[in-house]
Order: sequence, then C-alpha cells, then structure tokens
Amino acid sequence: MASSTTATTGPPIQVLVVDNDPAHAEAMADSLSRVGYQCVVAGSGPEGVEQLERGGFEIVVSDLKMPGVGGLELLEKSKELLPDAQVVLVTGHGTVESAVEAMRQGAFNYLLKPLDLKQLRAVVDNAARSQHLRRANTELARRLDEKFGFESIIGNSQPVRELIDRLRRIAPTDATVLIQGETGTGKELVAQAIHQNSPRKNRPFVGLNCAALSENILESELFGHIRGAFTDAAHDRVGKFEYADGGTLFLDEVGDMPLPTQIKLLRVLESGEITRVGSNEPVRVNVRILSATNRDLETAIAAGAFREDLYHRLKVISVRLPRLVERREDIPLLIDYFVRMHATRHKKQVKSVSAAARRRLLAYEWPGNVRQLKNAIESMVVVDYDGVLDLDDLPPDLAPKQEADGSPMDSGASMAELVGKSMSDLEALFIGETLKVTAGNREEAAKMLGIGERTLYRKIKEYGLN
Ligand SMILES: Nc1ncnc2c1ncn2[C@@H]1O[C@H](COP(=O)(O)OP(=O)(O)OP(=O)(O)O)[C@@H](O)[C@H]1O
Ligand SMILES: [Mg+2]
Repeated sequence: MASSTTATTGPPIQVLVVDNDPAHAEAMADSLSRVGYQCVVAGSGPEGVEQLERGGFEIVVSDLKMPGVGGLELLEKSKELLPDAQVVLVTGHGTVESAVEAMRQGAFNYLLKPLDLKQLRAVVDNAARSQHLRRANTELARRLDEKFGFESIIGNSQPVRELIDRLRRIAPTDATVLIQGETGTGKELVAQAIHQNSPRKNRPFVGLNCAALSENILESELFGHIRGAFTDAAHDRVGKFEYADGGTLFLDEVGDMPLPTQIKLLRVLESGEITRVGSNEPVRVNVRILSATNRDLETAIAAGAFREDLYHRLKVISVRLPRLVERREDIPLLIDYFVRMHATRHKKQVKSVSAAARRRLLAYEWPGNVRQLKNAIESMVVVDYDGVLDLDDLPPDLAPKQEADGSPMDSGASMAELVGKSMSDLEALFIGETLKVTAGNREEAAKMLGIGERTLYRKIKEYGLN
C-alpha cells in the first residue's frame, strides 16, 4: 500500500467537516483541502445530517459537543446512512470519556482540542488509506464477478445468447443443474458462472472430479471420514459436502461415478444430511448441487451404469452446451479473446492474425471445442516471432495441407475447374465461400477478403448472394 494519499489513484476523497464554530470548521477544511481532499463544511449537527443524507462522503470529521445534534448522534447517523465512511471526532478536555465511547461505537479515531492541524491531517490520511484499501477490495470483488460472471462466457451467437438468458434465470435459484456437453464446451466455466451469479457467491464453490477417484476415496472426499474409519484415516476429515456448506458443490464427470456411490449420493440429496465414513451421526448440510458430464447419461442408464432415479434428481434443470462448430460465428470473437489473453500471459506483442490463419481456424472441425481452440491460440502466440499469427504458427493438427503451398483454395474446386469462368463469377464464388466460412458474419468476411464492409454489402447485393 502506498504511504501517501496522493500516490493512490481514483477520485479524490470527499470529507464532511461538521463544527458549529465556523472559524474552526474553515481552518480544518482549509488544511485538508490543501493536501487534496474535497471538503464540504456543515455549520451544525442537523446540517451535518442533511449532508450525510446527500451522500458521497468517505470521511467525516465532526466536533463532539454541539448543540442539538452532537458528534455521537452524527456518528450513529453516519453508520446508518454511509456505513463505509470513517468518522473522526474532535473533542475538548472534559469529554474524553465520550470520545472513548465513540471509538467503541465505531469511530475511526478522535483528536483533542486545541487542534493540531498536522495531527488532523495525519489521522485523516490514515482514514483515507483504509478507504483506498476498501476501494481496492471492492474493485477486486467486482473484477472477480466479471471474471466468473456471464461476461466470461464469450460468444454472441444465437445458441450462446439463449444459453446466457437461461443461466440468468437459473443462477439465482437453488435448483440442481445438470450441465451436459462435449469435452471443452465450457461446462466448468458455466458451473462457476452459475455460482458466481447466485446468492451463494460469497460462500465456497467446491469442485470434485468424480472420474479420477476410486470408490472409497471418492466417498471419503464427498462425505468426509472419522479417525480410524479405515487404515489410513489418522484424523477426522471434513468432506466436500460439509466444506461447501452454504455454497455450491460441483460434481464434475458425474457420469463416471461408481454405482454404490451413486446410491449414497441419492440418499444425501433426498435427506439433506451426510454421514462421514465410519460415523453414525448424520450432519445437516445446505449445498446447491451442480453436476456435469460429457457422457450420454440416457445411454449409461440403459446400460445399467447410471441410476435413473439419481439422473432425475440431478437434472431438475438441464443445460446443454453447443459444440463449437454449432456456433462457428463465435470463433472470431474467441480468437481475439484468447489472443489477447495469451499475449498478456506470455508477454508477447501480437499485432494481428493473418486472413489465411483465420480462415483455417474458422473452417476447422474442433473436436476438442473451445479448449482446443484456446490451446491452439496459446501455442500460436508462443511460437510466433513476428507479431502476426499466420499459417506457419498453426499447431500441426491444424496445419492445412494445400494452403501451405500457396494454392488459394484448400478444398473444393481445383484451379483447372475454375478456368473458363469470368472474374465476376469467381468473385461471387469466392465471396459466397468466405461467407460460408464465417457463418454469414459480414464484418469478419470483409476483413478476410481485405475489402470494406460497404463494398462487401454492395457485392452481395450485386451477385444476389443471400
Ligand atoms: N464460451 C467460452 N468463452 C470463453 N472461454 C471458454 C468458453 N467455453 C470454454 N472456455 C474455456 O475453454 C476451456 C475449457 O472449458 P471447460 O473446462 O469449462 O470445459 P468442460 O466442458 O468442462 O470440458 P471437459 O468435459 O473436458 O471437462 C476453459 O479454459 C474455459 O475457460
Ligand atoms: Mg470440465
């Protein structure tokens, strides 16, 4: 933390100065204004209350003894109206006890009369420092919200807009949600976003991967165990359910949970109580369950590998995430997002992504969905040396065979077949193909074609491409 108020950024701190002695009030306000505070003076207790009601103050400096409304009442009012504001009281010799009482009621500090202006500034500077810290914390919390809020789900396609719309309605409830989707489609991201946009957001979000663990370990992870429950249990251990109390438990890869554990989980969901392994004492827990799987649970049920009753419990609400190729028009947004992310992370300058590389990224099938795209971009950013992400930066599994040797089309018509067509036919064909690759996104298509958007519109009309 910087040691001086001037070293910290943000708007200046507003100070309310309350004193029924006008000369004294002015002296204090003047002294504080000179070092960068924005002061408002109130000449009486009631006037001070009026100013508090108007709001905006982060620090209040008030005389303790005033006719009508005194410093203690003002402190109380301030705690009520502006709970984040710090209050400093100024007191004469006879009233030190009241000042001590004020501290007990949450005043930041007190100063003795006759007032030493240097001391006033020192105390106000301290209060300001604590306010800057609070501002920074609020900012941090806001940024975390942003990170895990719906803003973190990048995409503007119809499926993503519908998804976010649904999440907005689901998140604030306590409903159990089953998130389904292929690998890398963002199931965990969505689970975090649901939690972060729920009233439980200040309580823990606890994830557990059900696929990676054996039955015994999984159960002890979920429900905890008591000392001596099994050979290695040297101590009592709290399970994820208890750990997540008041918050959200995310059961990842729930489709891979062993059948006996499924039965126990179902019992917990029905009773709202867990029992630690080795214990007989049930413990009540208040946990919201989110689960995810990339398996087709209906098939697993048919095969006897997943319990139907548990399936219905988990899937009170179900969310299905689209494959990346079902929302190709989001690929350009995701490319830019990941380029920025990884350029920052790896401290690299990336000026642009070449049209040819974009074309390839847009046309690819993405079996690993967003995760694969994210990793591909990361690898491109890392191997790039000239600031332009191009075909030569593509990871091997994406490297196109034909484009690399300079042929303008990577599939479909060969050059020989095109000979004999007119330039305008070729242009129409080319624009049509590009629009297919960008899933109809004209802005992106214009960028790839190296022409203005207006020109593209004109040509689309001219060639009747729609
Ligand atoms: N719409 C999106 N916007 C931004 N990032 C995304 C999006 N979808 C996924 N990601 C990112 O892609 C990566 C994979 O996402 P996530 O781990 O949530 O996938 P998953 O569905 O849980 O995959 P798996 O089934 O393999 O566990 C993460 O880094 C995530 O942040
Ligand atoms: Mg996952």
